[in-house]
Amino acid sequence: MSGGDRPPVALVTGGGGDIGRAIALRLAQMSDAVAIVDRDETAAGAVAQLVEKAGARALAIRADVSSARETAAFVEAVETRLGPIGIFANNAGIEGVVAPLHEYPDETFDQLLQVNVKGVFLGLKHVIARMMQRGTGAIINTASTSAIRGRAGLAGYVASKHAVLGLTRTAALDVARTRIRVNAVLPGPVESRMIRELEGQARDSAIALRRSAAIAHGRPQDVASVVAFLASDEAAHVNGAAWVVDGGMTLA
Ligand SMILES: NC(=O)c1ccc[n+]([C@@H]2O[C@H](COP(=O)([O-])OP(=O)(O)OC[C@H]3O[C@@H](n4cnc5c(N)ncnc54)[C@H](O)[C@@H]3O)[C@@H](O)[C@H]2O)c1
Repeated sequence: MSGGDRPPVALVTGGGGDIGRAIALRLAQMSDAVAIVDRDETAAGAVAQLVEKAGARALAIRADVSSARETAAFVEAVETRLGPIGIFANNAGIEGVVAPLHEYPDETFDQLLQVNVKGVFLGLKHVIARMMQRGTGAIINTASTSAIRGRAGLAGYVASKHAVLGLTRTAALDVARTRIRVNAVLPGPVESRMIRELEGQARDSAIALRRSAAIAHGRPQDVASVVAFLASDEAAHVNGAAWVVDGGMTLA
């Protein structure tokens, strides 16, 4: 994007989920078209309908972000069917389970790295390759406050989100000579399926997830509005940044 141009196409992975839906609807206000990628086809389709109701063109694609082949295919499909991707919300992620590290299942750890790390890497790789041809674009990776702190019971999730921040910073440097920017948004707990699932498991295993009960959970739209800012020309000089959206929770 440059000179206040309306970026024609936004892509949101995990767009069928709670935060992804809010991001897709927020980006529909500043884009001509929004592509929603999710492994849950029904959820992606439902969000695409909401995007169309909001006045933007929409495309729902079922894909697994941890597959290189599927990632190459959905990036190609979005550019062919909607146009050049100007905004990429690299948001799909899974939570794994709550368990102390010495009991944490190996296969869950592997899955978290596969989806949250490899998936984010593949999205960056394929979208940046397209953006490099044009020299412009804005990418926002959804990390978590688990990218900058430890959390009891969440070894796989915390390791994966630290990696997302490392990828964000490295990608930002790799594109620093262009007008492509790569930033991360770091939500604290947000009212969502994911946090209900984690809090339920934590209660069952008597592991304390929250630091400050005094700070309310955020709403998906609180995350989406920061993503929209980072995607906009207002953030033209913001690159490689980690934007915490947690109501101050990490300070407690
Ligand atoms: N909910 C929170 O409190 C919270 C806090 C911090 C960060 N986050 C992060 O925000 C992002 C969105 O989470 P959410 O709360 O909306 O959760 P969610 O489970 O509602 O949404 C995640 C979406 O990603 C999709 N997805 C999962 N694996 C996929 C894969 N391999 N390929 C394609 N799609 C896949 C799911 O189908 C789902 O629709 C995640 O990266 C999550 O780690 C969430």
